[in-house]
Parts: sequence; C-alpha cells; structure tokens
Amino acid sequence: MSALRSVVLGTGSCLPERAVTNAMLAERVETSDEWIVQRTGIRQRHIAAPHETTVTLGTRAAQAALDAAGLGPDAIDLVICATSTPDHTFPATATEIQAALGIGQGAAFDLQAVCAGFVFGVTTADKFLVTGAAQRALVIGAETFSRIVDWEDRTTCVLFGDGAGAVVLEAREGGERGVLSAALRSDGRYRDKLYVDGGPGSTGAVGHLRMEGKDVFRFAVGQVTDVIVDAFAKAGVTADDLDWFVPHQANRRIIEASADKLGIAREKIVMTVDRHGNTSAASIPLALDVAVRDGRIKPGDLVMIEAIGGGFSWGAALLRW
Ligand code: UT7
Repeated sequence: MSALRSVVLGTGSCLPERAVTNAMLAERVETSDEWIVQRTGIRQRHIAAPHETTVTLGTRAAQAALDAAGLGPDAIDLVICATSTPDHTFPATATEIQAALGIGQGAAFDLQAVCAGFVFGVTTADKFLVTGAAQRALVIGAETFSRIVDWEDRTTCVLFGDGAGAVVLEAREGGERGVLSAALRSDGRYRDKLYVDGGPGSTGAVGHLRMEGKDVFRFAVGQVTDVIVDAFAKAGVTADDLDWFVPHQANRRIIEASADKLGIAREKIVMTVDRHGNTSAASIPLALDVAVRDGRIKPGDLVMIEAIGGGFSWGAALLRW
C-alpha cells in the first residue's frame, strides 16, 4: 500500500456584499486613499452587514467548495474552521457550519492561530487524512474582523476586511498530488505586538484588536521566511520549482519583500490584498479560490501558502495542486 496524501478537490469563498473603499473610510477617520494604497496596497475591503456573520460567510464558502468538489454533505468526516471571530464563544463555529451544511458525521472543531489559522488548519487536517483518521476534510477560514477592530484607530481599522474561504481535502493513495510538506512555528513572547484586549476569561467582553504595526512588519519580513525555506527543504524543491505563491494578504509590501527575499518571481504571487484587505484566516483560502476560478492555479501546479499572525504564530505548507 502506498502512502496517503491530502489532495485538494475543490475551493470556495464568500465575501460580504458591501465593499468599502479607502475614500469611504477617509470620511470616518483621518486617513487618505493615497496613504493606504502606498503603505499597504489595499484599495477596498468587504465589510459584513449585521445579517452576515462568520458562520453565514463560512457556510457559503464551504458549500461552494463542496459544489466545486462535486460532493454532498455525506462525504465529509472532518470540519476545521480557523477563526478568531466566532459568532459565539461556544459552540465552535465549525459545528455551526457543519450543521448548516447538513453534515451529520465526523468531527468538527475550531482552530485558533489568528492570521496563520488556515495554514495550521490545512496542516492539521493533513495529519488526520494521511493517518487514515479521516477521509475527507473541509478546512475553512472565516472572519468578521470588522467586529473587533477599533473604528477610532486609523492605524488598524483601515487594514482589515471580512470574508471566508474553504477547501475540500481528500485522502488519496499514491500519486504526486497533495500536501507535500509543512512547517509551523509559534512564539508567545510576541503576544503584545498583536492581540485583542478582551475575552471571556479576562474582561468578559469581546475587546478590540491592538497592533504594533511596525514590529509586526519587521518580524514578518525578517523571520517568517524560515518556515518557507523549511517547507521547500522538506519537499526537496526550490523557489524555482514553484508555480504559485499564495501568502497571507496583510500588506503588499510585506508580500513582495518576502517573495524577493526567497527568490520567488513576482509574477508567481497571487495578490488579493488590494480588493479584500486583511481578512486574517480567510485571506489565503479566498486568494486560492480567486486563482483557481480565474484559471491560474491548475492541477499539478506547485503552490506555497504562508502566513503570520498574532501569537506570533506562523507557518507554510507546500501543495501539489
Ligand atoms: O495579519 C497580521 C499581520 N499584520 C500585518 O502584517 C500588519 C503589519 N504592519 C503593516 O502593514 C504596517 O506597519 C502598517 C501598514 C500598519 C503601517 O505602515 P508603516 O509604514 O509601518 O507606517 P507607520 O506605522 O510607521 O506610520 C507612519 C505614519 C505615522 O505618522 P508619523 O508618526 O510619521 O507622523 C502614522 O501616524 O503614518 C501615520 N498613519 C496614518 N496616516 C494616515 C498611521 N495610520 C495611518 C492612516 N492614515 N490610516
């Protein structure tokens, strides 16, 4: 019997209806389209209406991924949702999505690694699939960061957006396709650089996002590339072999500086930060879905996903699509 690999069968995504441009934000806080575009590359982000929640966005993204895979709810026996903005403290967002999709078997749980959550989610699902503990997994990144940003703080509120993305992974024997390697890291000593100043166990309130943007920027460009180098080495490939680099979409400057440092050609970058802003755990599956549906990412392509977020937690995974 040859080894099992976790193969992507389908992707899906969902954005809130309302797009908010930089000019619209400039009516609310002291900022400008020029500053936001120059410092971040962001031109607009989608913001959830009251009826659009992490669960509803996540459910629609997951349903689209199931449709793309040609599968019904009976096929899924693992649901992992990466989110920092659950609709409720409990139950898990993953179980709410599981029920909304009509999935009645298997396990469902949330995973908290902030912006790196989707990379941690894919890596975790892969462990279930390659050990035979599950057969088909839905990995979802779903967020409504508009509900935890401080709308008075121009240094953070212009950066984030809402949305969801999902992939279906299946355990398959043999073949070249699937998750080839991954590398995950966390270092809680950086807690104060990016955190939410509340929660059920401390203040009893949801709290607001706080960030030392400059320090996060420096760390992201300076350190985060180690997991990518690791993932390349474990799979025995190099940046030249890569077809698509799909990083967490936080800031155009971070993405381009990381790619340059790794020797990844700029035309291999999938960039959606201009349209989506930073959607935390949703940003990579949203970008994957865009690039699959517009025909860029095709079966057989070598794809690197990578993210860093609060914790700090960061990681990379290499997939043969
Ligand atoms: O997903 C989790 C990871 N998060 C990130 O990756 C974010 C990482 N950090 C960043 O992307 C960047 O650090 C920012 C985009 C947040 C900031 O860019 P920067 O080039 O580091 O700018 P800065 O913080 O040094 O601010 C420069 C100036 C400051 O004014 P002074 O002190 O030079 O007079 C800020 O007060 O820009 C000012 N500023 C703004 N001006 C207009 C800060 N925010 C704004 C704003 N509009 N929204």
